[in-house]
Amino acid sequence: MSLLTVIPAQIKQIADSCHNTDVTDQFSPLAPSQLSIGPIAVPTPVVLAPMAGVTNASFRYLCRKSGESALPENFAPTVDGPVIHDGVLTAPAGLFVTEMVTTRALVERNEKTLSMVRTDPTERVRSIQLYGVEPDTVAHAVRILVLEDLADHIDLNFGCPVPKVTRKGGGAALPWKRDLLKDIVTAAVKASEKAERDANRERPVPVTIKTRLGIDTDHLTYLDCATIVEGAGAAAMALHARTAAQHYSGHADWSTIGVLKEHCSLPILGNGDIWMGSDAVEMMRQTGCDGVVVGRGCQGRPWLFADLVAAMFGHEQRVAPNLGEVITTIQEHGRLLADEMGEDRGVRDLRKHIGWYLKGYPVGGAARAELMKVTSLEELDTLLSRLDADAPYPGSTVEGPRGRAGTPKRPHLPEGWLDSPYLNAEEQAGLADAEHDVSGG
Ligand SMILES: Cc1cc2nc3c(=O)[nH]c(=O)nc-3n(C[C@H](O)[C@H](O)[C@H](O)COP(=O)(O)O)c2cc1C
Repeated sequence: MSLLTVIPAQIKQIADSCHNTDVTDQFSPLAPSQLSIGPIAVPTPVVLAPMAGVTNASFRYLCRKSGESALPENFAPTVDGPVIHDGVLTAPAGLFVTEMVTTRALVERNEKTLSMVRTDPTERVRSIQLYGVEPDTVAHAVRILVLEDLADHIDLNFGCPVPKVTRKGGGAALPWKRDLLKDIVTAAVKASEKAERDANRERPVPVTIKTRLGIDTDHLTYLDCATIVEGAGAAAMALHARTAAQHYSGHADWSTIGVLKEHCSLPILGNGDIWMGSDAVEMMRQTGCDGVVVGRGCQGRPWLFADLVAAMFGHEQRVAPNLGEVITTIQEHGRLLADEMGEDRGVRDLRKHIGWYLKGYPVGGAARAELMKVTSLEELDTLLSRLDADAPYPGSTVEGPRGRAGTPKRPHLPEGWLDSPYLNAEEQAGLADAEHDVSGG
């Protein structure tokens, strides 16, 4: 039986089981990694990358269930919710990070933003990514997440290359201003520590950061950034090994991940161009990084997490679903999204995933076009029932690059931004707008 056909049964098992159960002594001592993010043990050093518009609760669930299905039996949790091993909160199959949410929207208690940080109660570790440009607002948002027990781990996004964000000094432009970076991370770490004490929480909520190499090859920031965030108390750093100027073009330069690992003593998570389980192992071997972050490779392929987990445990397994199994996953994904956000929004959200799921399978243009306009779960079932469920796995054509690519772009920055690595009053004022209309990247 393939892993894909196992997933729906697990979903039922999870729904039936209870939350918050201690599964002490379930783990084999042969975990592939000693990675810790603050107080959280991450024995399988794999992270689902935060992706705006993609890594909502439904997609995180599919990825995590897929990853957990490949854990060795004595390592796989049998019940729902947080896993506490020897008193330590543990992420058996890795971390699965939310879409980023802006700190200002969280502080303003925007309903949509709050729904994005209300994680699914079956999650093992609640990893939430924040995007913010102003230390007090970031601190306030962190305080909300910790006081209201909404997160176990908070990641800060300093890598967004979108012009409308960098033009105002946010995203990947921000680490250029060393003082601002330091102030934001310090404020976040302190706010988390204070809220943990005020709420009498059982364990600290670590703060990590995710960034790119820099603005362009002449303005690299990642090494200074590591020194600064380590000093400010961050628990780990993830590096997407591209500059903002590269956007998603070319190749991630994995050698820089090795340079970063040598440069600081924080746990380093390498990111960029992992398309298969073996790529993850290879990135760790080449760079010495402590774990990997995987984004586009799992778009339309949540089962990549089974391959990633298997690879970390030394197996070469490859999930190779035929079209019928892909259809089962699409239907499951649709039902999860409908539960999460209502059928209308859920089915709309599913459309882009359908395009990714069907990539490489023999589905005619007309059927594809109809599926991209689907408006209900019933219509989805009807349209999917017309496809050839026996069509085999397409092979290597679906295992390479997918998702965003494009060409390099000159980063848009505020006037004079590169003149000094420290923020001036005018630049500070310009940042006020940098949280509007942010959509990830
Ligand atoms: C659709 C999309 C949305 C993204 N949104 C975010 C985001 O919200 N926060 C973030 O830090 N990175 C975001 N990213 C970047 C990814 O987390 C990751 O760094 C990047 O895709 C490189 O990894 P990959 O080669 O495995 O895809 C996004 C990427 C994509 C493709």
